[in-house]
Amino acid sequence: MTIEKKVRAYTNIALIKYWGKRDEAAILPTSSSLSLTLDAFYTETSVAFKEDITQDTFYLNGVLQNEAATQKVSRFLKLFREPTGIQTPALIKSTNFVPTAAGLASSASGMAALAGAANLASGLNLPDQELSTYARRGSGSATRSIYGGFVEWQMGTSSEDSYAVPIDDANWDIGMLVVVVNSRQKEVSSRDGMKNTVETSPFYAGWLESTAKDLIEIKKAIHSHDFQKVGEITESNGMKMHGTMLGANPPLSYWEPYSVVAMQLVRQLRKEGIPCYFTMDAGPNVKVLCRLSDSEKIKARFAEVFRTEQLIVSRPGKGLQIMSN
Ligand code: PMV
Repeated sequence: MTIEKKVRAYTNIALIKYWGKRDEAAILPTSSSLSLTLDAFYTETSVAFKEDITQDTFYLNGVLQNEAATQKVSRFLKLFREPTGIQTPALIKSTNFVPTAAGLASSASGMAALAGAANLASGLNLPDQELSTYARRGSGSATRSIYGGFVEWQMGTSSEDSYAVPIDDANWDIGMLVVVVNSRQKEVSSRDGMKNTVETSPFYAGWLESTAKDLIEIKKAIHSHDFQKVGEITESNGMKMHGTMLGANPPLSYWEPYSVVAMQLVRQLRKEGIPCYFTMDAGPNVKVLCRLSDSEKIKARFAEVFRTEQLIVSRPGKGLQIMSN
């Protein structure tokens, strides 16, 4: 089989966080989550099954990858090989499009693009919802990157129904400013961080109860285009996730001094009447949810403290795109 189409997937930032698995192998989450897909950060990937190579071969950003990285991709491709019986080695070429110096290595766009490309190359041609369950097996957050706009990853009851559902196209004056506090690779992976939190944090039960409520409320706010409500729930939910980590043993925190500086600036901007709200993931970078129409004004204020290459404004992104080569 020689179909070699490139697929683009955009990354996403969770407004209602996923932080914990109930099944490590199948990547089934302990709660549902909800994100905004962003158009400024994406991955393009092609997969081709080729008779003329002897083993799976993986290039990332034009560089041939080592065995460990290639094995990770091969393990994922197994999901597509099993139902189709394809044994042929695969040539995988992947490029991350991330503005210079951002260093936001994104498993979400990476695994979603790989899933999309493997879906085409294998001829499996799964519909999006089922494809999102495959992307999930690569990385939890990738489940949501199959779709654009606001997307819910429903925790489901099994591997078959733990999938993403598009909620709203986010085409209503919403954007995000990504503040790159530090682009170094994180020391504790999200996989290890969430596992430790689930197992040891006494706050975890409270998190599960409250995040379920946040999800219901944010969906109502999204449907009524209530930006302030969406922002308030986003900021609160992100802080509660980080609270669970502080309660873990050993305690975990991804914050750096400039993360706090960014949070304080967001609060200050709100005091001045500019609505914006922050969220953070398993790293020190701060993402500021704002009105797209306010984003340049907000960026200019951040530029008084951060270098401009640390500041990236993004619009909402689309779902998987099949590129014409
Ligand atoms: O699926 P992972 O390993 O990229 O974990 C994502 C965890 C958070 O980014 C912190 C939250 C989320 O829902 O994306």
